Amino acid sequence: MQTTPFGTTTVPVSRLGFGSMGLRGPRTWGIRSVDENQAERVLNAVLDAGINLLDTAPDYGLAEERIGRYLRHRRSQFLLATKCGCDPLQHADHLEVRHTWTADVLRRNLETSLRRLQTDCIDILQFHGGDARTLQQAGLIDLLQSFRQQGKIRWLGISSALPHLPDLLQLAVFDAVQVPWSCLAPQHSDCIIQAAAQGCGLIIRGGIAQGGPDAEIQRPQLNDIWQQAALDDLLPPATSRAQFILRCTLSNPLHHSVIVGTASLQHLAENVAAVAAGPLPAEILQQVTLRVAAVLAQPAPAAYS
Ligand SMILES: NC(=O)c1ccc[n+]([C@@H]2O[C@H](COP(=O)([O-])OP(=O)(O)OC[C@H]3O[C@@H](n4cnc5c(N)ncnc54)[C@H](OP(=O)(O)O)[C@@H]3O)[C@@H](O)[C@H]2O)c1
Repeated sequence: MQTTPFGTTTVPVSRLGFGSMGLRGPRTWGIRSVDENQAERVLNAVLDAGINLLDTAPDYGLAEERIGRYLRHRRSQFLLATKCGCDPLQHADHLEVRHTWTADVLRRNLETSLRRLQTDCIDILQFHGGDARTLQQAGLIDLLQSFRQQGKIRWLGISSALPHLPDLLQLAVFDAVQVPWSCLAPQHSDCIIQAAAQGCGLIIRGGIAQGGPDAEIQRPQLNDIWQQAALDDLLPPATSRAQFILRCTLSNPLHHSVIVGTASLQHLAENVAAVAAGPLPAEILQQVTLRVAAVLAQPAPAAYS
């Protein structure tokens, strides 16, 4: 597995990371629930493949607990990123994701995450959203700094998106920034450049565009962009559409680690092979960028607006 220095931390991070949201279990949301056996198999296969960055959150049902239960004995082999500001509410049949920006919630998140993950230090503690003004006024950035001084976390992170990200980056306090990006949804390209200029470690989510047009769980809006941009024309031989999308994301060296979620050992192997295949040729990348930009410049169909 290829690694790269994770921003100014300089710690080697695998280009392919793992997003654990899909391991959230029953009574959460979505149409698919991964059982304990499958969670154990996938998590261990992830480390066996050389992936050394795992992303999770208190909002992801059983995911933190499962990482602790199945990977505790391998804790030295990976960087652990979780989140704070999370105030989820478990209903009888589903989990309601809520965010509350208070010191009490952050302290509770930290304690709960350390216990569930069966570790004494979280490598990256990310604000799960929030805006610069709220986080500053509530003293939450100082609180995260105090967690670091106590040795309970190593680095401060933010997992965010537009419109809040540019102002959050202006604070210049984050070691790690998690941003959505794929060739089918490139709207955060400028934020990524801004974060990289500060030396942040960049974690990319959505970097396989939820599996692309062949995914089990279909995303019609992303599929439409693929079709309208006629990206099938650009597919190299023996490359799946998901691999193509992932290779586009990995072709940008600013994207230190792309946290892909999967519950499938076969997809994990495909994704590892995509890293090994390396960046796509520059002329293909340029075509993808131009074609997708042309599609996105069109007015949105009424159904999406
Ligand atoms: N605000 C936030 O902080 C935030 C929000 C969203 C996500 N995240 C993080 O980012 C991670 C990834 O995000 P995401 O789940 O939205 O996006 P993603 O990684 O782009 O998509 C995951 C989906 O892609 C499918 N997939 C993976 N590899 C595939 C392959 N080779 N072929 C076909 N399908 C494939 C998976 O299905 P299979 O299981 O069938 O492979 C899964 O349904 C999450 O797990 C979470 O850690 C953070």
